[in-house]
Amino acid sequence: MRHHTTFRQLEIFEAIARLGSFTRASEELFLTQPTVSMQIKKLTDTVGVPLIEQVGKKVHLTPDGRELAQATRDIFAILDRYMMNVAERKGLKQGKLKLMAITTASYFAPRLLGEFAKLHPGIDVSLRVTNKEQVLASMADNLDDLYLLGTPPDEIDVVATPIMDNPIVVIAAPDHPLAKKKNITLERLAQEPWIMREAGSGTRKAIERMFAEKGLEIQPRLELGSNEAIKQAILAGLGISALSCHALTLHQPGQFAVLDAKGFPIQRHWYAVYPAGRQISVVARAFLDFLLGQRGESSCAPGGGEACCGAGCGKAGGSLSVKR
Ligand code: PGA
Repeated sequence: MRHHTTFRQLEIFEAIARLGSFTRASEELFLTQPTVSMQIKKLTDTVGVPLIEQVGKKVHLTPDGRELAQATRDIFAILDRYMMNVAERKGLKQGKLKLMAITTASYFAPRLLGEFAKLHPGIDVSLRVTNKEQVLASMADNLDDLYLLGTPPDEIDVVATPIMDNPIVVIAAPDHPLAKKKNITLERLAQEPWIMREAGSGTRKAIERMFAEKGLEIQPRLELGSNEAIKQAILAGLGISALSCHALTLHQPGQFAVLDAKGFPIQRHWYAVYPAGRQISVVARAFLDFLLGQRGESSCAPGGGEACCGAGCGKAGGSLSVKR
C-alpha cells in the first residue's frame, strides 16, 4: 500500500470521512468531483477492500474504512507536530524578543536577557526600562512580548507568572546607630528620616502598606526618583530607606547596613506578565521557561550589611491569571 498511496488520496479520504460527502470534500479541497471519485477508487484498489459505501447521496465508511480514517488522522497529527517542532526551532534561531521592565527590574533583567541571548545568538533581543505608566501604554498597544514587573497591573487583564523573589529590606549607612541593633520595631523606624521613591513606585507602596497596617505613617525627608539616588543619599547620611534586595546587587559587602527590622524583609515577587488572551511567541515562551529554570538564593541578611542577590534572589513558580 505504501508504494501506491499518495498523501493527496489520504487527504481526500480524510475529508470525505469527516464531512460525510464527496461533494463537500471536493469543495473543501478545491477539486472536481470526478478527481475525488477517481482518487478514492485508486485508494480502494490499492487497499483491496471496500472503504466507503454509498447509499443514495449518503456516504458511510465500512469498518476497514473507519480504521483507515483513524490511521490517516494519526499520520496527519504526527506531521503537524513535526511541522510545529520545525517552526519552533526556526523561531528560536531567528526570532525577536521585546522586553519591557519596570525601573527596579533593571538590576537583574539585563543579566538574564544577556544569558538568554548567549544561548540563542540568532535571536534579536531588546529591553526597555521604564515607569509604570509607559508599561501600561505599551501593554494596551501590544508593543512588547513580555513585561517584568513587581506588581501586576490592576488596569488590564494579564497572565502573571512569578519568576523570582523580591525581598524589600531596610538599609542604612554602615555607621548608622541602628546598624547593630536587633529586632528594631516599626515604631522606632518610623521616627527616622526616610528617603522614599516617587509616588507610584511599587517599592514605595509596599513599604507604606506595611507601616499603615500598624497604624503608622512615614514622613519622607527626601523623595527621589531612582534607587541609585536613594543609595547616594543614604551614604551621605541623609536618612534610611527600604529597597528591593536586587538594588544592592554589585555592591561590596559592608557598603550598606541591612537593618534587622521587625516585619522585614517584605516578601514580594517579580512577575513576567503579558496581556490575557494574547498568544505569546515561541521566543517569548522560551524566555519565560528560561526564567523559571533560573535558581538562586537571596542573601540579604540583616546585620553586617551584605551585598546580596548574587544569582537571582530565589525562584518562584506557577502562573496565575490576574483578572480585574
Ligand atoms: P518600582 O519597582 O516601581 O519600585 O521601581 C517595581 C515594583 O516593585 O512594583
